[in-house]
Amino acid sequence: MTSPYGLDGKAAVVTGGTRGIGREVARQLADAGARVCVTARDAADVRRTAAELGGVGLAGSVADPAHLSEVTELALRAFGRIDVVVNNAATNQPYGPLMDADPDAWRTAFTVNVEAPLRLVQCAWRAWMREHGGSVINVCTEGAGHVGPHVGAYGTSKAALLHLTRQLAGELAPRVRVNSVSPGLVRTEMARFVWEPGEAEVAAGLPLGRIGEPADVARAVVWLASDAAEWITGADLLVDGGTRVRAAHPGGYAVHDRLRSYAPPQP
Ligand SMILES: NC(=O)c1ccc[n+]([C@@H]2O[C@H](COP(=O)([O-])OP(=O)(O)OC[C@H]3O[C@@H](n4cnc5c(N)ncnc54)[C@H](OP(=O)(O)O)[C@@H]3O)[C@@H](O)[C@H]2O)c1
Repeated sequence: MTSPYGLDGKAAVVTGGTRGIGREVARQLADAGARVCVTARDAADVRRTAAELGGVGLAGSVADPAHLSEVTELALRAFGRIDVVVNNAATNQPYGPLMDADPDAWRTAFTVNVEAPLRLVQCAWRAWMREHGGSVINVCTEGAGHVGPHVGAYGTSKAALLHLTRQLAGELAPRVRVNSVSPGLVRTEMARFVWEPGEAEVAAGLPLGRIGEPADVARAVVWLASDAAEWITGADLLVDGGTRVRAAHPGGYAVHDRLRSYAPPQP
């Protein structure tokens, strides 16, 4: 089938591709004709997802540089190319005021959310993209654009990822396009503590009246990955149901109230 997105015959790596947004990104990339390599820490999830999508997968943490090299080698071995990299895996820990942030947990947030995307792009660049071109999409967050209660480490690391996106876009042009998507609140495990209690109230606070679904974000990622976006690099695409423009909306914004009153389980 000829894809309207021009991904037939292309190959993609999606980190954190077994659940939530990453799983749906991998599925939609495969539907658009791409062969996909998914990663996550849970080996059984990786095996199942790779089989379901007719692709390949490797279990491991993106925090491990050796794993990222192995993922690159696997994708090249399996597909002979790496046209698309989607840096989707992330951590939203440590949660809480920054004055209480544990330095190791803070460092892990930056390792997973910022350093790993850079390392994977370096691997893909050296192995394929420097010579043949490609498209990178980093999954950031709408929350990186403003200050929020208790999510300082996450927001700061994602703001760094936004800048990394622009920096790489400048450095890798014209061969490789580098863009990001910034989701608002999406119905996944990572954000369950925000959307599940009182979903109707949270949804009412959003201009478009509902929380996001992984498919909303995946469509944007696939479009940015494709030739339909061939003149776009260094861009951040908000996929947030209008979260950023909520100030003009009568419902206000319940997400921050939710975060403020959330008591995380003690480790
Ligand atoms: N959900 C939202 O409301 C929201 C909003 C804004 C931005 N985002 C961003 O969207 C992306 C996806 O989030 P999600 O909500 O879809 O999360 P999710 O449902 O919790 O899924 C996360 C995926 O990443 C994998 N993963 C987590 N840590 C990993 C690591 N260190 N190494 C490799 N894989 C790892 C998980 O599998 P394993 O646990 O097996 O490793 C899983 O496949 C993240 O970048 C997140 O920051 C989400």
